Amino acid sequence: MKLYHKKNELSLFIEEAKAENKLVGFVPTMGALHDGHLSLVNKALIQNDVVVISIFVNPTQFDKQEDLKKYPRTLEADVSLLKSLKAENIAVYAPNAEDVYGDKIMSMSFNFDGLEDEMEGAFRKGHFDGVGTIVKRLFEIIKPDNAYFGEKDFQQLQIIKKLVEKHKMPVNIVACKIHRTKDGLAMSSRNTRLTKQQRKVAPFIFRILKSAKIKFGTKSAKYVTEWVEAQFRKQPLLDLEYFTIAEASSLKPVKRKSNKKSYRAFIAVYAGDIRLIDNIALN
Ligand code: PAJ
Repeated sequence: MKLYHKKNELSLFIEEAKAENKLVGFVPTMGALHDGHLSLVNKALIQNDVVVISIFVNPTQFDKQEDLKKYPRTLEADVSLLKSLKAENIAVYAPNAEDVYGDKIMSMSFNFDGLEDEMEGAFRKGHFDGVGTIVKRLFEIIKPDNAYFGEKDFQQLQIIKKLVEKHKMPVNIVACKIHRTKDGLAMSSRNTRLTKQQRKVAPFIFRILKSAKIKFGTKSAKYVTEWVEAQFRKQPLLDLEYFTIAEASSLKPVKRKSNKKSYRAFIAVYAGDIRLIDNIALN
């Protein structure tokens, strides 16, 4: 495993790989790595000759300064975790903000055909402009053949597909399944900040999603949403921010199921000041 802090040095590594006709896979992350991230890395290792993993807590995608400040930063542990994979062909890119952004740390403004206005976009203003800016920049530096994104952030995945399509970037976007702990909680870097009590109740989120999936078989989206809201009113440690049933590619909310389309349920919940998101396929 090689560690780079500077894009110029990383570029030399990538140019060498490309000159040897090697396939370059890329896994962008914000670090505090867990098994969810590793499932992306492992998939990338199977499908490529070399794999670049970026570790960068991107300031422009945080709508709340407090959240940015509290985001876990564990570079040393992340590097040892990746070293433990014992893969020669892994390069880690852990830049500072100046190396990726230059002297202007700011977002570009994107039109993702309305994907950016739903759910996370509605509740976290400017979030997807920040994500689009950093991912576009990283794609330009790394020029990957394949890039790996988790369905845990399903809206982000759809937005990145749109980014690549609109900007005609020659990158294949690979979707990866949500990795969960045994009790069903979707793995997240933020989980490490949960108190013991919060961690104990957090699997409630996925249990509710699974019940919502069953109910949506026969009931309307409005009925299911009201049922979910009622369940969270009974759960004092978790505050529901939104629950939405949407069509899976446009992310537009839907009223009822029809057999012609794919649907997903999306949820955002606060445990204290820690924001957790999850989603489930409904077909
Ligand atoms: P981060 O939250 O670190 O996630 C990095 C990648 O890992 C994302 O594609 C995310 O969907 C995936 N991931 C996280 N937890 C997962 C889980 N439990 N199962 C499957 N995949 C999971 O997402 C970001 O960082 C940033 O927005 C980034 C794309 C790096 C841009 O800054």
